[in-house]
Amino acid sequence: MAWNNVPAINEIDIAEKRLFMRLDLNAPIGEDGNVSDLTRLEAAVPTINYALARSCRIVLASHLGRPKGQIKKEYSLEPVAKALANLLDHEILLADYPVGDSANQLTRQMRTGDIVMLENLRFDPGETSNDANFSKQLASYADIYINDAFGTAHRAHASTAGILDHLQGASGVGFLMEKELTALQRLVDDPARPFVAMLGGAKVSDKITLVRQLLKQCQTILIGGAMAYTFLAAQDIEVGRSRIETDQIELAGQLLMLAAHNKVDLVLPEDHVAAQNPDSEETLLMGPGVSENWMGFDIGPRTQELFCKHIEGAGKVFWNGPMGFFEKHAFAQGTKAVAEALGKSTGYTVVGGGDSAAAIRQFGCHEAVSHVCTGGGAALTFLEGETLPGLAALLQAQPR
Ligand code: 3PG
Repeated sequence: MAWNNVPAINEIDIAEKRLFMRLDLNAPIGEDGNVSDLTRLEAAVPTINYALARSCRIVLASHLGRPKGQIKKEYSLEPVAKALANLLDHEILLADYPVGDSANQLTRQMRTGDIVMLENLRFDPGETSNDANFSKQLASYADIYINDAFGTAHRAHASTAGILDHLQGASGVGFLMEKELTALQRLVDDPARPFVAMLGGAKVSDKITLVRQLLKQCQTILIGGAMAYTFLAAQDIEVGRSRIETDQIELAGQLLMLAAHNKVDLVLPEDHVAAQNPDSEETLLMGPGVSENWMGFDIGPRTQELFCKHIEGAGKVFWNGPMGFFEKHAFAQGTKAVAEALGKSTGYTVVGGGDSAAAIRQFGCHEAVSHVCTGGGAALTFLEGETLPGLAALLQAQPR
């Protein structure tokens, strides 16, 4: 079986059936109203094409943003349907609401090879509340359920969990889900050492469970980004006005002690690119701390070298979170340096979605790493050692 006991789409007889395909098409929409990053759409194409080649009638479903149970034009899947139709070179009909008259009619009228996309699932409050009635209506559109929404696999919503309680036919994962889960499982299982995790981004509080889990598995943890300042503050190192979470300092201290206890090398920045505010043209290199009135926005050259050396010598690397405010050129060098080091690494390298996935693409190294996840939250939940709710629901739905 593709994933434990859950079959992949190519292990299910789908020919000429009605398929409900949950995708994660939560893509950014630019100011011109079009999808500005096609990554998640491109990632969905192989599974859709596979179903098209087997004469299925396909119902596509996704969320976009967080419209909180209300119909909001800016969260419409219309630009997504248009861009996906272009990629597939195939017409997609968009229902005006995830369930109800338009969705009922369009799905009823589908013929072989037709694709209907339901409007943003989160326009209905029943999606995020995993409402039984909403789940039942979604299930009524199909014989077979395929979940290829890796980026949403950490959510137990109607379209990822509840729907399976009402489905009569088979269920399984799509090719993207299979690929992502396999890549992450390999990261856990591969005996290559040292296992280096590189974490960045703003918040320690988002990554506590992950750090605890990684402290059991990794030999080295590199910490950059704004979250590093909370760790530095826990070591009584001056952080100036850098962004920290004061209520997490004690916990950061405990994680540092746990690292020492587990003999994990937890490496913090030794120098910083600092400025008095994020828009300032004037930057200064400083270290080991950040002076009063200054804020750290990137790791400095000494830290870059240190982090890159760890990546170079690693058997496997997991990276989540940028090293600094990389959207601004003045603070992008740290993230660029580690992205390039990852690209050159001969170890098994996985980038955990979100900002780090955007960064590795921005610096042109995405094809040189082993795997880039299309979902940050889902990748982190997996590595925290939990069964993803979307996968758990599929597992439970399999005939015993
Ligand atoms: C994501 O972009 O991380 C996924 O689409 C999940 O979105 P959510 O955090 O709004 O559930």
